Amino acid sequence: MAIIAQRCPGVHTTIVDMNAARIAAWNSDLLPIYEPGLEEIVRQVRGRNLTFSTDIAGAIKRADMIFVCVNTPTKTYGLGAGRAADLSYVESVARAIAEHANAPKIIVEKSTIPVRTAESISAILAANTSGIHFEVLSNPEFLAEGTAVNDLQNPDRVLIGGERTPEGEAAVKALADIYACWVPRERIITTSLWSSELSKLVANAFLAQRISSINSISAVCEATGADVDEVAHVIGRDSRIGPKFLKASIGFGGSCFQKDILNLVYLCEHFGLNEVAAYWEHVVRMNDYQKRRFTAQIVKALFNTVADKKIAVLGFAFKKNTNDVRESAAIAVCRSLLAEHACLAVFDPKVAPEDIQRELAGAAEARLTVARNAYEACEGAHAVALLTEWDEFKSLDFARILASMPKPAFIFDGRNILDLPKLRALGFQAFGIGK
Ligand code: UDX
Repeated sequence: MAIIAQRCPGVHTTIVDMNAARIAAWNSDLLPIYEPGLEEIVRQVRGRNLTFSTDIAGAIKRADMIFVCVNTPTKTYGLGAGRAADLSYVESVARAIAEHANAPKIIVEKSTIPVRTAESISAILAANTSGIHFEVLSNPEFLAEGTAVNDLQNPDRVLIGGERTPEGEAAVKALADIYACWVPRERIITTSLWSSELSKLVANAFLAQRISSINSISAVCEATGADVDEVAHVIGRDSRIGPKFLKASIGFGGSCFQKDILNLVYLCEHFGLNEVAAYWEHVVRMNDYQKRRFTAQIVKALFNTVADKKIAVLGFAFKKNTNDVRESAAIAVCRSLLAEHACLAVFDPKVAPEDIQRELAGAAEARLTVARNAYEACEGAHAVALLTEWDEFKSLDFARILASMPKPAFIFDGRNILDLPKLRALGFQAFGIGK
C-alpha cells in the first residue's frame, strides 16, 4: 500500500487492523518491521494518501477496493493439519466485509491461498448481503523480504486473476489501472482466478525446488571433493537454467516456501494425485535433511560431542536484510545443537533477542544466551556457525575472533559467504556447504 500511495497520488489507501498496538507502531517513528527503504516511503506518504487505522467498519464502508492481506498459516489441528492452509482469518474478513459494506466493492485477495478460495469468499459475501455486487480478484504478491521495495517498484510481473465475465473484466481493469501508474502494461498479466491462485503456489514451489536441488548436490560435492559454488556457476551459465536461486545453504526458510509447497501437496492429495504430492513433498524433506546434515557435521567435527561446548551462532533471520525469523533454518539448527547439550551464544544484527528466545523456547533455555555483537558471541567458543548471510559478517576481524577461541577453533559457514582458504590460513578448521 505504501508503494501504491507513493506511485498513485490520486488513490487514497487505508490500512486497517484489529491489532491496535500494531497500528500504533505503524503510526510511530519505529515501524514494526525492518525492510530496507520502506521507512522513507512510509514517512513520505503517511498522512498524505496512506492512513493506518483500527476503524475496520468505516474503512470497509468507504473503500471501492478492499485488499485482503491476512495470514494464511498452515493448519495445526484437525483435517489437513500440518499441510492445509488455515483460512479462518480470510473467512472472518469476508464476514466483516459482508457486515459493513453498503455498496458494491472489488475484493482483492493478496494473501497466498490455496486454489478456489475466491469461491469461498464470494459464497460468504453472497449469503450475507442482499443485492450488493462483489467482484473477487486474485492478485498474489511476488516480493521477497529484504528486497521488497525494489521488487514492488520494478516487478518482473504483476498477476491479476478474475472472472471471465464483463463485471470480472471491468474489475481486473480497475486494478490493472492502479498498477499501470508505474508498471509497464506488458508486465501486467491477467488470468482466470484459479490460474492466478495456483500460479503463486507453483512459483514458490519451483523456487524452493531449485534450492533443494542445489542443496542435494552440495551433499554430493562434500562426498566427492567438488565445490558446489563452482558447479552452480557452471550450470547457471546455461541460459535455460539461469544463475539465480542456486546458492547452496543450510536450507530455505521464510513464511512462504514450506507453507506453499505443503499446500500444493495437500491439494494434490485431495485430488488423488499421490505421485505428484510425493514429488513436491520431497522438496521440503530435502530441506529438512540439509538442516540436519549441517548440525551433524558440526557434531562430527567437534570430536562427536558438543556437550557443554560453547558454539557461537552468527545470524538468526531466515535471510539477510530482514528481522523475520519465520521458519528460519537457524531455528532447527539451534534446536538440534541444544538437544546435543551445546551452549549457544546467538547474535543477529536485526532480530530482537525476545524473538530468538521465543523461537527456542522449551529447548534448554539455560544453555542459550543472546549476545550483543559477533565478538561477544564468539568469545571462548569452540566453534562459530554462520547461519544468515549478513554482509557485516564478511568483514569481521577473524584473527581477533580466533585469538579468543580455544584450539582447535572451528568455523562452519552455512551460507558460503566467507573466504575459507583465508580462514584456514589463519588457523581455523573451516567448513562450508558443499565444499
Ligand atoms: C519468497 C519468494 O522469493 C517470493 O517471490 C514470494 O513472494 C515469497 O517467498 P522470501 O521468502 O521473502 O520470498 O525470500 P527468498 O529470497 O525467496 O528466500 C527464501 C529462502 O531461501 C531464504 O531462507 C534464503 O536464504 C533461501 N535461499 C534463497 C537459498 O538458500 N538459496 C538461494 O539461492 C536463494
